[in-house]
Amino acid sequence: MCFRFPHPPPVITRRTFLKSTAAAAGTLALPRFAIGQSGVPVNSKLNVGVIGVTGQGGTNVVDIAGNPNVNLAAICDVDTRLLGLAGKPWNKDTTEFVVPDHTKKFTEYREMLHDMGDKLDAVLVCTPDHSHAHQVVNCLHAGKHVFSEKPMSNSIWGARQMHAAAKKSGKITQMGIHNHTAEGLRLFKEWYDAGLLGQVREIHLWTSRPWWPYGMKEYPAPLPPPSTLNWNEWLGSTEYQDYGEGIHPYLWRSWWKFGSGVIGDMACHLIDVPYFMFGLGVPEKVEVVDIFDGTDISIPGGAHALFHFPATAARGPLQLHWYEGNRMVNGEKVPFRPPVPKTMPQDTKLSPEGRFIICDEGAMSTEGVPISVPLIYPDGKLEAWKKDGKLPEKILPRTKGGIRSEWVDAILQNKPELATANFDYAAGLTETALVGNLALRTRAGLGWDASKMRATGNEAANKYIMTPVREGWFSETSDVS
Ligand SMILES: NC(=O)c1ccc[n+]([C@@H]2O[C@H](COP(=O)([O-])OP(=O)(O)OC[C@H]3O[C@@H](n4cnc5c(N)ncnc54)[C@H](O)[C@@H]3O)[C@@H](O)[C@H]2O)c1
Repeated sequence: MCFRFPHPPPVITRRTFLKSTAAAAGTLALPRFAIGQSGVPVNSKLNVGVIGVTGQGGTNVVDIAGNPNVNLAAICDVDTRLLGLAGKPWNKDTTEFVVPDHTKKFTEYREMLHDMGDKLDAVLVCTPDHSHAHQVVNCLHAGKHVFSEKPMSNSIWGARQMHAAAKKSGKITQMGIHNHTAEGLRLFKEWYDAGLLGQVREIHLWTSRPWWPYGMKEYPAPLPPPSTLNWNEWLGSTEYQDYGEGIHPYLWRSWWKFGSGVIGDMACHLIDVPYFMFGLGVPEKVEVVDIFDGTDISIPGGAHALFHFPATAARGPLQLHWYEGNRMVNGEKVPFRPPVPKTMPQDTKLSPEGRFIICDEGAMSTEGVPISVPLIYPDGKLEAWKKDGKLPEKILPRTKGGIRSEWVDAILQNKPELATANFDYAAGLTETALVGNLALRTRAGLGWDASKMRATGNEAANKYIMTPVREGWFSETSDVS
């Protein structure tokens, strides 16, 4: 199941890359860095590289460079203009961050892996969704620990490749879901497990995104790429597409080929809560209840999808309602929103993003990302438990710092379990989200056979499980189907 397209030759040939990175991986059998202490010399810290250094990459650069146990050894961006703005956070026009003088700068990540060799221990991949798979697989194959932005990939095949490569490498991985280290997530799991709300029955998750264009019927008119941008490298392993306006930066989200829709943008944050709490696993079926706009190349403007999860030993079957964007009512755009649970005040105003978890004896509501302190309904129930001394002790491990420092600590202490959103966890979460996308992209429900990696009852969906791959971009692929 592999479609291959010709492509202009990359700067480093596949053979050179494999030879040099395999050699580099061999030299990394023992960690060179000291168990980090603030104030240790640069060459004793964890040497980190970042691929994609503005947008979310900007946030990641500033955070990781500020970790006292990390040396920002290298940065890489395909756009030399943006490379010059490294550390520019998401949605901000200026940057105050100054890249250290000793940090090496690259415009092609395979060159970075090749030239840095064993001077690089770990890499953060913060590029658009379509590039994660080949970059992460190549970094793991080169012997680096890897942090990947969410979702792991925009294709189920890509996420499974990343997971297989991580298992084979034994390296420490993490997906960028900052919600996952939040206190609210742990509190609510402890309360639920202690029986505060009885059995879970239904989940409702919503977001007002997309805030960006959707529903395009054609790709943008071809234009010469800006002189600062290496377009071939930006496309990476993905099937060739002409450069045009409305793709780079940020707006790749509008296109299925590069992004993963609103589900890719938000579901890994929002679904993370029930996925962690109730062991959702992957859905057996997804229905499209309603959908507004959207084409097979560009994402919808709104949707309501219903995910069905089979029962486990601990709970019955679960239904998860996913609402994104708007629907059309009498020619007007109205946000897709869930009904307010019966146990909550019916005039509750819903925030742009949130979650309801409905159980036999009440409901939980949280807003935003990261998860805020959960609100419990009916009113007074949590207080009554507190008064009666029934609230459980804090028993789940807490994280000091956020999702990136958790990963750094896991590497430095050689304790993979400290990276709680590692690929063993994140691969299933990503697949769950992406099965939803198969339904939204084809605008039709489907069954999901995870063991065969195939959709049932919707043959059209099967062509989107693996996005076409241009030859030469993966150092190695696994037979994951
Ligand atoms: N965890 C979060 O809260 C969060 C928030 C926003 C975005 N994200 C994720 O971060 C990733 C990036 O999103 P964004 O909004 O920052 O995108 P963006 O397009 O704004 O920024 C991407 C950056 O990567 C660079 N880049 C693109 N392709 C590259 C390549 N092949 N090699 C090197 N550099 C490359 C671009 O030039 C740009 O600087 C996506 O996967 C997105 O889903 C996560």
